[in-house]
Amino acid sequence: MKKRVTKAIFPVAGLGTRFLPATKSIPKEIMTLVDRPLVQYAIDEARAAGIKEFIFVTSRGKGALEDYFDHAPQLESDLRRKGKNALLETLKSTNMESGAIAYIRQHKALGLGHAVWCARRLIGNEPFAVMLPDDVIAAETPCLQQMVESYAETGGNVVAAMEVPSDMTSSYGILDVKKDMGSIVSVKGMVEKPEPDKAPSNLAVIGRYILTPKILQNLNKIKSGAGGEVQLTDAIAQEIINSDNVYGYRFRGQRFDCGSKAGYLQATVSFGLGRPELHDEFDAFLRQTMAAQKAAQ
Ligand code: G1P
Repeated sequence: MKKRVTKAIFPVAGLGTRFLPATKSIPKEIMTLVDRPLVQYAIDEARAAGIKEFIFVTSRGKGALEDYFDHAPQLESDLRRKGKNALLETLKSTNMESGAIAYIRQHKALGLGHAVWCARRLIGNEPFAVMLPDDVIAAETPCLQQMVESYAETGGNVVAAMEVPSDMTSSYGILDVKKDMGSIVSVKGMVEKPEPDKAPSNLAVIGRYILTPKILQNLNKIKSGAGGEVQLTDAIAQEIINSDNVYGYRFRGQRFDCGSKAGYLQATVSFGLGRPELHDEFDAFLRQTMAAQKAAQ
């Protein structure tokens, strides 16, 4: 019987330099898509997948992120007094049960693998999820939930996977596929950010993982890898050698790289159009803008 996945690590210690100057005073995870911060999308997805404990690996300057999950008694009582029930309901999704959320500091920016390792004592001997809030995934069935269902079949370590253009491999962890079974692939190797001519495929790791606690032990030992950082990819690759139980999962959904400006803007357009209350006005505006641009060319 496989243990249920109830804990998730959210590595949010990055400086977000690609979004300076905005990230000079706000954590990038608090930047909004329509009206919700990026981190809220990750939390909602985690909840849908059955996650009960939320572990944030933070760094200096992430105070706004911690405050975001607090109750706001003054705001709530104001809204109640004014009868703004819909807004009160919206606020509820930002509240965490006491003790359900933990913050761990990553004292040095030593890489994603190191960030995950910082949470080891809170994970103990259980499988756990890792979610990178920069990767926002629009899907009918939330991505992590799809992965939990897939994990119920395969067990082991499951990483979200997606084909990327061949010239983009140096931005991702890349899978070396052993057996392609459609939505699930078994993996015989993993490389962090290979140049296109060294990449074993164009099947890339996207920021959702279900991992065994062995990965934390591997992180105890591995040395820094690509970019001089301790890579999560390397600790998972080690598990292929040790236990041969690593799988890629091709999720159903659209992924937006909200760590890049272009991806963030694309997500804004897509999520904006996806809101029934905004759709018509926004759609008309986009069409007019495109038509005006064409005419000016
Ligand atoms: C991280 C991982 C990489 C993965 C990517 C997905 O890289 O190290 O393996 O493909 O997330 O977004 P980063 O984008 O943090 O450099």
